Amino acid sequence: MRATTEQDRSPSPLFPVSATTTYRRPKATVDPDTSKSWWKRFIPIVATRRVPFIAALVFSGISLVLQVLIPNLLNQAIDRSIVTPSVPLSHYVTEIIWIAVAAGIVGYLSRWLLFRTAYDFEYDVRNLLFEHMSLLSFSFYDRAQTGQLISRANSDIRSIQLYTTFAPMILVQCAVAVVAFGFMLSISVPLALIAMATMPVLFWIGVRMRKVMFPISWVIQARLADVATTVDESINGVRVIKSFAREGRQVNTLADASEKVAWSYTKDADIRARYTPAIQNLPQISLVLVLIFGGIMVINGHLGIGAILAFNAYLVILQAPFMMLGMLVMMGQRAAASADRIFEILDVEADITDRPGAVDLVVTEGTAAFSGVRFAYGDGPDVLHDFTINIAEGETLALVGRTGSGKSTAAKLLMRFYDPTEGSVSIDGHHLRDVTVASVRNQVGIVLDEPFLFSATIAENIAYGQPDASREAVIAAATAANAAEFIDKLPQGYDTVVGERGYTLSGGQRQRIAIARTLLVNPPILILDDATSAIDVQVEQSIHEALHELLDKRTTLIIAHRLSTIALADRVALLRDGTVVAIGTHESLMASNDEYRSVLAAIESPVEESI
Ligand SMILES: Nc1ncnc2c1ncn2[C@@H]1O[C@H](COP(=O)(O)OP(=O)(O)OP(=O)(O)O)[C@@H](O)[C@H]1O
Ligand SMILES: [Mg+2]
Repeated sequence: MRATTEQDRSPSPLFPVSATTTYRRPKATVDPDTSKSWWKRFIPIVATRRVPFIAALVFSGISLVLQVLIPNLLNQAIDRSIVTPSVPLSHYVTEIIWIAVAAGIVGYLSRWLLFRTAYDFEYDVRNLLFEHMSLLSFSFYDRAQTGQLISRANSDIRSIQLYTTFAPMILVQCAVAVVAFGFMLSISVPLALIAMATMPVLFWIGVRMRKVMFPISWVIQARLADVATTVDESINGVRVIKSFAREGRQVNTLADASEKVAWSYTKDADIRARYTPAIQNLPQISLVLVLIFGGIMVINGHLGIGAILAFNAYLVILQAPFMMLGMLVMMGQRAAASADRIFEILDVEADITDRPGAVDLVVTEGTAAFSGVRFAYGDGPDVLHDFTINIAEGETLALVGRTGSGKSTAAKLLMRFYDPTEGSVSIDGHHLRDVTVASVRNQVGIVLDEPFLFSATIAENIAYGQPDASREAVIAAATAANAAEFIDKLPQGYDTVVGERGYTLSGGQRQRIAIARTLLVNPPILILDDATSAIDVQVEQSIHEALHELLDKRTTLIIAHRLSTIALADRVALLRDGTVVAIGTHESLMASNDEYRSVLAAIESPVEESI
């Protein structure tokens, strides 16, 4: 959000000069067919980068084939230039040098292209995941753990990326191993078969390792996410933790989570320690076999001495893919586990979406109506039922009720954060289900009781909904929210950067900035959910006066726990257990409704004590 300074722009080898903040939307998304295996579901994304990807594989194949040619030349050089000199040695030497140089250049190209594709793939998956998360509805975030989401966006994507880089490379190496085997066969069929004798065993060990590794890789990723969750909670909840002096407990929780990570990594290392040496050393047995049988063949004159040297070099080439196959198996397990965790998010469907053919809501009058609404969070009990209210054009309606009676829930339904299970919510007679989600959110403004501020300047926070707003508009909104005075007193005024979540401000100051932020957008319908709870009564009074002046035709839904706030409303609706039990002016309810009086007395007294 901060403007780039001269210093930021100065070219530096570590700072990509061409980096921009524009979002390049991935050209493809994952295959939605959940019955497919994980890597097949990623194919559409890889396919958008097929040119560099295939080029990388082709180059990598060429480079390996060139390398495979070298032992064969070595064989010929020894037999034809050294043992029985018929060709000058320099011929083979220059040939080998040229092939090595060519293999080097092609190898460079292949790696460059492959890594580039892999990082682009990682970029795409991360963007897809984040974009998808940004579209998910509140019902998802009500359950989601931040740490889990962060770890999925980081380490899980990375492990899939690693696999997409290495798997094709290793597969190409395997293909080249076949070529190498072909060369070995052309030199000596029996010796080639003997040299390959240990390879099936290697393969079998790889398969066994795959079986044991899978569960543990899954556990590792899950435990890492637990650590991230604990760290996230310890940082975000630091004020609560410190106020209860429970730092020790948090440290223990983290230690516990890290110990579990350490345990699973140890288990992982244990399995690897058992299998890797076998995988690495089995090829040495092949070498011994080649030495024995090849040696006997050379002694008996059935084979040139160069062949043994060439076989030796071929075994080294063959060894690599077989050894890497083990690593590939391990990475594959991890990538599969990570992919599962990423699909767990990508496969969640947003439940609040635009229905086909939805039109934009244009508020002309500003009436709002709840009719026969029933609503429950997830599979929980009904929070609202038989909920019916009609809010007239320009009216200010207050919702009053004991805590948990469903006031905030009603407000969230008017924002279409959720859809009602039964009945309908409508604005100007349009059902919210029939209009676009964005248009509802653009025209209904809400100020929540826990204002979230971004770690940016105050002006940027106020202009969050309208980043191109002029400074005058920002100041006007701040003035209406009664925030201008305290902002002017800050050292950098509107350019003061508020700490993360605005913790450098007082609760009341944060609330006023949140009100200014919503007022700047000037929504025709406004919801204040306990938005002034941390502001004293006089300041609150002047905010409401300013609100009236700004737009007296604005329809407003106020949720408040204070008599002073409630008294501002034209009408008051009394809620009990998710249903409206009485509605009328404050005075008439005070005069006629015992329950209303008792609810107000109950909610008012603690406030009065605190004043
Ligand atoms: N995201 C959620 N997921 C599940 N249940 C929820 C969620 N939010 C609220 N509830 C439940 O819904 C009920 C109504 O909550 P709501 O926030 O609407 O109450 P309220 O009237 O605004 O209370 P308060 O005056 O304390 O703000 C409560 O029982 C609460 O536990
Ligand atoms: Mg509430």
